[in-house]
Amino acid sequence: MMMYSCAIKAVKTKLQVLNDELSMTRKRNPIEFIETRVKRPDSIATKLKKKHLPISVESVRSNLNDVAGVRVICAFLDDIYKVADMLTAQDDVELIKTKDYIKKPKMNGYRSLHLIISVPVYFSDHKEQIRVEVQIRTIAMDFWASLEHRIYYKKGKDNQALRQELKDCADISAQLDLRMQAIRSDIENC
Ligand code: GTP
Ligand code: MG
Repeated sequence: MMMYSCAIKAVKTKLQVLNDELSMTRKRNPIEFIETRVKRPDSIATKLKKKHLPISVESVRSNLNDVAGVRVICAFLDDIYKVADMLTAQDDVELIKTKDYIKKPKMNGYRSLHLIISVPVYFSDHKEQIRVEVQIRTIAMDFWASLEHRIYYKKGKDNQALRQELKDCADISAQLDLRMQAIRSDIENC
């Protein structure tokens, strides 16, 4: 768990450096805030059991990508891809997997860019490559996902009307992101 929390610190620092630099050069912060979490041991065990995988340190290392989680909340849509590109362009960041739920939202309307990356963490006598799940989203995407998570996700409810209502809200939030970005572009071009 210590190794995963060190990997989170390393990724968070990389993101903060990018944000500080961009706020100087572009006079605007692309990142609003960053949240991090290490998956709890009981959640790790539940996930391994569900996948019929052995419960061991080695199994966690090779089978789970989301023990270390970093969530990056951006102001605007295009900031998401800028941040993702700048992070994955770094020499010591290896991109393992991308899931773009913005270009292709989930059926329920969920949007976010998910990256699984691997970063080196240096300890006293060795180096470890550690995987981190990075979710990058706008404030609107985060607002929707947070409320949907509480209302529906992982609770297994099967309520068609509720699902449709949440999907409509996701569509409105997607339009809002586009409109806010257009407003920003207009202002920048003034
Ligand atoms: P998990 O087993 O849940 O980790 O999913 P996965 O391995 O298929 O990965 P995926 O990239 O689809 O989702 C990883 C994480 O994204 C989840 O743990 C949630 O934090 C978030 N997420 C994915 N889908 C949804 C969704 O429909 N609603 C919400 N609120 N969050 C979601
Ligand atoms: Mg997960």
